[in-house]
Amino acid sequence: MADKDNIKEGKDFGIGIPQENKPFHVKGAGALDWGMQNRLGRIFNPESGRTVMLAFDHGYFQGPTSGLERMDLTIVPLMQHADVLMCTRGALRSIVPASINKPVVLRCSGGQSILSELSNETIAVDIDDAIRLNVAAITTQIYIGAEYEHKSIANLIKLIDSGNGYGIPTMAVTGVGTDMKRDQRYFLLATRIAAELGAHYVKSYYFDKGFENVCASCPVPIVIAGGQKLPELEALTMAYKAIDQGAAGVDMGRNIFQADSPVAMIQAVRAVVHQNMRPKKALDLYQTLLAEEKKKSKRQTARAKRRK
Ligand code: 5RP
Repeated sequence: MADKDNIKEGKDFGIGIPQENKPFHVKGAGALDWGMQNRLGRIFNPESGRTVMLAFDHGYFQGPTSGLERMDLTIVPLMQHADVLMCTRGALRSIVPASINKPVVLRCSGGQSILSELSNETIAVDIDDAIRLNVAAITTQIYIGAEYEHKSIANLIKLIDSGNGYGIPTMAVTGVGTDMKRDQRYFLLATRIAAELGAHYVKSYYFDKGFENVCASCPVPIVIAGGQKLPELEALTMAYKAIDQGAAGVDMGRNIFQADSPVAMIQAVRAVVHQNMRPKKALDLYQTLLAEEKKKSKRQTARAKRRK
């Protein structure tokens, strides 16, 4: 029973101080319900408004690609440096420590492989399971102009409706089929379709000439995928240009986990995304961290030899 003794009556009502209604920091999300905003607020840092998502969902159609052969050894050490983890439920349950305090964006599509038509995906996770996994957002891919365009858009619509029922936002991934050109026309179309259908944010690729138009015309935040592995300076330059032109972050995989030092690379990417660090300075940071890591590993090897 509640304690009724010595109840102190309220007396400090802050008369004259208007209650503040702070605008929500995520683009296009000002009118969303509390749960949606709270989850999006875990993904997009309230100070910078941006995010560094670590993507390691590639295995759902590619198998154990380079850098993801042993995710327990290669990905787990990177997690502390990411704002958000993007993965499949299989990786989440088997590899990601449940004690990790990071928001998860769950890959909810599947059903095809690199050996078949990429756009032929289906929804591969029930919303009940996404809730059970306590995820911050769910995601599927749309393939505009591809063979299974309609099916992939229908997947997105279904996922958005399921997530809306529980306050879970949806990130739409604009998947590029093998025959499609990564240009302004494609991404203007794909990102806008995704947002108009109700996606809460959209993953695109960066491209030269017109990327800022994609960010401007999409009413919700855009994050970029890293794409195929590039030399570190090029990857950092791509991230810098994307942020400079209006992207709200990166959802990067191979350019992080296939780098010589993934731990150094994710920290350099963070500096670009959250501090607007210029690419050359970010490369210096990468190289300094890489050199420190090498020194540390040399010391450890020497110590191990001495112990033998
Ligand atoms: C695969 C994905 C990946 O998460 C995405 O491509 C990001 O990874 P990368 O930076 O390696 O391109 O959505 O379909």
